[in-house]
Amino acid sequence: MADRIALITGGNKGLGFETARRLTDQGVRVYIGAREPERGAEAASRLGVEWLQLDVTNEASVLDAAARFAERESRLDILVNNAGIAGSRKPAAELTGEDAETVFATNVVGPVRVMNAFIPWMKTSSNPVIVNVSSGLGSFAVTQNPQRFESQIRMPLYCASKSALTMLTLQYARALPGFRINAADPGYTATDFNGHRGEQTIEEGTEAIIQLAMLPPDGPTGTFVDRGGPVPW
Ligand SMILES: NC(=O)c1ccc[n+]([C@@H]2O[C@H](COP(=O)([O-])OP(=O)(O)OC[C@H]3O[C@@H](n4cnc5c(N)ncnc54)[C@H](OP(=O)(O)O)[C@@H]3O)[C@@H](O)[C@H]2O)c1
Repeated sequence: MADRIALITGGNKGLGFETARRLTDQGVRVYIGAREPERGAEAASRLGVEWLQLDVTNEASVLDAAARFAERESRLDILVNNAGIAGSRKPAAELTGEDAETVFATNVVGPVRVMNAFIPWMKTSSNPVIVNVSSGLGSFAVTQNPQRFESQIRMPLYCASKSALTMLTLQYARALPGFRINAADPGYTATDFNGHRGEQTIEEGTEAIIQLAMLPPDGPTGTFVDRGGPVPW
């Protein structure tokens, strides 16, 4: 069987980089997206994978990445919408509309833009899979559970953006029944994203992403999981 081909946005470091490494280990042919060329080229050379300049907040950049991908490949099997930012950590009352637009541009509009540009290339795959890297911080249930650390976190914009991404996952899964489209909560993982304060290792943090990326054609769609199983919405 032909190699599976994957694209991981924000693949130059953190969870995206580790996802690229692990998928490559499993025989997947990986493209990483990176918004900054030097970081993309350097990470791709360390991983031994291809890279595409791809800033998820920039329409022209995403369309150009899709065009360059299509020059080389006839289909995409696995898309991991991983690129994400925490955004402003200001107290709620000080957050501005601009702060909100910045976070939503990357975490919500970005995946929509990337799916719009790449889904045409996934339609010829015999097993098209999309993984949206969401967060327990986007779960209404988890953030209201006093037993969970997520209930102590006050990041209105980031949390709302991940709720939106999880809902997008559910809606796209229903709209595209031939695809498997699922959301992953990596869990609190040591990366630059949190100044390496996360308690999980990068291997633990990529567990759910890898499971979803490698789903078989009869696997579930429209689910939200972490490495322990289903995440309550
Ligand atoms: N770490 C955690 O505890 C945790 C928990 C739950 C969910 N998540 C989610 O997991 C994903 C990856 O996070 P991480 O921990 O690996 O963070 P990270 O180390 O900060 O990596 C984020 C990646 O996204 C890229 N990126 C940011 N804005 C972008 C844009 N506009 N276009 C393209 N790429 C962009 C970054 O590129 P640059 O290098 O150019 O900045 C970087 O490659 C995020 O969606 C995050 O919300 C993380």
